[in-house]
Amino acid sequence: MTASRTRGGFATGALKVHSSPAAIAPVTRALRAAGRRVLLIPTMGALHEGHRELIRHARMTPGSTVIAVSIFVNPLQFGPSEDLSRYPRPLEADLEACREEGVELVFTPQVEDMYPDGAGADSGTTIVPGRLADQLEGTVRPGHFAGVLTVVAKLFHIIGPDVAFFGEKDYQQLILVKKMARDLDFPVHVVGVPTVREADGLALSSRNVYLSPEDRVRAATLQRALAAGASVSVRGPQAVLAAARDVLAQEPTIDVEYLELRDPDLGPVPAEGPARLLVAARLGTTRLIDNVAVRF
Ligand code: PAF
Repeated sequence: MTASRTRGGFATGALKVHSSPAAIAPVTRALRAAGRRVLLIPTMGALHEGHRELIRHARMTPGSTVIAVSIFVNPLQFGPSEDLSRYPRPLEADLEACREEGVELVFTPQVEDMYPDGAGADSGTTIVPGRLADQLEGTVRPGHFAGVLTVVAKLFHIIGPDVAFFGEKDYQQLILVKKMARDLDFPVHVVGVPTVREADGLALSSRNVYLSPEDRVRAATLQRALAAGASVSVRGPQAVLAAARDVLAQEPTIDVEYLELRDPDLGPVPAEGPARLLVAARLGTTRLIDNVAVRF
């Protein structure tokens, strides 16, 4: 079934698609007033198994719920040399995936709906994320998390979700969104959903399609390195980092940007208890990130 985009909203099967904030906001408000809990999965489209897992996870929420998926490639979170113009935008396939997963509402705004003064760095009001946003991903992608949090804050205001679901693959994003919800008193429960992986361990990402066949094979090294690190956690943080580094070093075409151990909130690594091992690396022109839980 094909679906066209309109300013108001339209239904395809049980799925309702809205492209303007003014159209979807009263719908979710009325649903909440009628006692339904609104569950939001924010995405940039190009939906894959990882997104489907977020939807399935949302579906397990008890009570009378309605699932909303937003699809918006957010220019504010892309750096000047990043892949905004070539980012995949397969809207019809995304709507089909939502339909297959039993999603009730899809929000597909245009850039001008979200950023009336344009999406330039100095165009409008933005969220200031705090110091954590300058670390890890922030060292390589300055301004990225200000863009992410600004669009997520807008989605929270427009849709008013009771619960919002984010993948653990983008772990720093998940932690920063949780922090923003707490710091700015958004009445939303932010839930992290475990990463979905290919058979060889590669974390699913919309950007995996950019990998050449050779780099696609090498990409699984990231997860092998994280697993090698996690497997020696009884020997302490230095052993974890060394084991992960050894695996990464076996693949010299992988350009590692960072490999770090942190506590689960991304503070300094603890002497004991739960921690997170995070990696970012370039393979050819593609940048990949991944992380795993570790326990000391
Ligand atoms: O993780 C993503 O796809 C994006 O960063 C998000 C949360 C949808 C904001 O644009």
